[in-house]
Amino acid sequence: MNIELMKSYFMTLLLTTTLSCATAKNDPLRFQAQGESKELAMPDGQTVKYTAYTGIRYVKNVEDTTYQTLNFFVPEGATQQAPILLRTYVGGYMAAKAKMPTATDATGRALQEGMCVCIPGSRGNNSVQGGRYTGKAPQGLLDLKAAVRYLRYNDKRMAGSAERIITDGTSAGGAMSALLGSTANHPDYESYLSRMGAAKARDNVYASVCYCPITDLDHADMAYEWLYMHQREDAEAVRPMARQFDQYINSLHLRHPKTGEQLTSENYLEYVKSWLMASAQRFVAEGGEIDDSLGFEFVMFFPPTPAARPGGPRYIRAKPQKTDIVADVDMERYLDYVVSRQPLKVTPAFDNLSSPECGVFGDAEGNPAHFTGSGLSAELQKRVRMMNPMNYIADPKAQKAQYWYIRHGAIDRDISFPIPVNLATKLMNEGRQVDFALPWNRAHRGDYNLDDLFRWIHSIL
Ligand code: DHB
Repeated sequence: MNIELMKSYFMTLLLTTTLSCATAKNDPLRFQAQGESKELAMPDGQTVKYTAYTGIRYVKNVEDTTYQTLNFFVPEGATQQAPILLRTYVGGYMAAKAKMPTATDATGRALQEGMCVCIPGSRGNNSVQGGRYTGKAPQGLLDLKAAVRYLRYNDKRMAGSAERIITDGTSAGGAMSALLGSTANHPDYESYLSRMGAAKARDNVYASVCYCPITDLDHADMAYEWLYMHQREDAEAVRPMARQFDQYINSLHLRHPKTGEQLTSENYLEYVKSWLMASAQRFVAEGGEIDDSLGFEFVMFFPPTPAARPGGPRYIRAKPQKTDIVADVDMERYLDYVVSRQPLKVTPAFDNLSSPECGVFGDAEGNPAHFTGSGLSAELQKRVRMMNPMNYIADPKAQKAQYWYIRHGAIDRDISFPIPVNLATKLMNEGRQVDFALPWNRAHRGDYNLDDLFRWIHSIL
């Protein structure tokens, strides 16, 4: 190489390096946060040491500096391969801030188990900027998607693996987790994310943890009355709404995950009952006792008695025992019990103008909006559609999480059992691996039985 050629070669190299350094420095979505050392005192007496990176802006065009940031936490010793628990604290479809980890929920536990944790903030129903509401649906979901994109865009620069993101949320947050797990990379969301200045990266996740997801909102009212019609003062008044659910269930073409049998309005109640019975069964097997007034029927199952036992076998037992089989449940008696624990929501439970759901489908002036029935604008219909995971689970253009952990407490009446049952069933029908249960005696909350959750997390990694 002659000297002139070499000179020009090095000049070009220098220029490109300087330029790419400058671009990197000016790239607002490049992870370059300064970490701070922190400690978390855990319930078991251990102290977890971790580094906290806070206040990270995950879109270029930030509208709301209070909510559109994420926090990222790296426990001591975490590698590039560590899974990332992405926990949203969205509740009531409201805005949620990027918080610090909590020792008693899944975030603290994840750090203790060596996982990285991301807590993104997101806008919601109540977000106001310059007198305008900026967090109406689907903005909160878009914020969370943008946070996932940020993690993937910066995967090499941050600890943990963006290919192993596990989302987690409760209630409206459970719905967000379900949406993150079922709608990823779908073209419906693309133009919005691009306008927000989200990182150019994919937003699919590895697994989704959904506690009591308040979802499938456009069918939540009919599902509620279908289940609780006889617990209403006037069952006849809500019957037409309940009957709409029969049509809906037939339109879903769900199949029984074990038998492959088509689920229809004819056999669907038995199917829902089977999940409740499984819940009761698990409780009894763990030594729990269920009062007769709750409507469960047990078949006594006797351990084999030695044939030569003196006096012959004795078959006397009053209380359900570990070995008993739950044979049936009188659904009306059980639902009476659920409602005795917490009164039902008014009718309609979701599409009424004082609900958080009408709030989040409202407009920029802050007026709530109905989101079911005829006469919705095309724009509102699209927004409703984008907030329902059921629309995307069978759509090949959406990339689904392969692993799901879905829980809805057996005494939770915030939304009716068919909603989480259908979500879980549709995912199973589409070949996803779903760990679904209606945990016994649990009300409307999340991040409980962390031993069970983290057993499952380890099993999928
Ligand atoms: C939540 C609870 C509800 O009953 C509801 O309708 C919407 C959201 C929640 O706790 O997030």
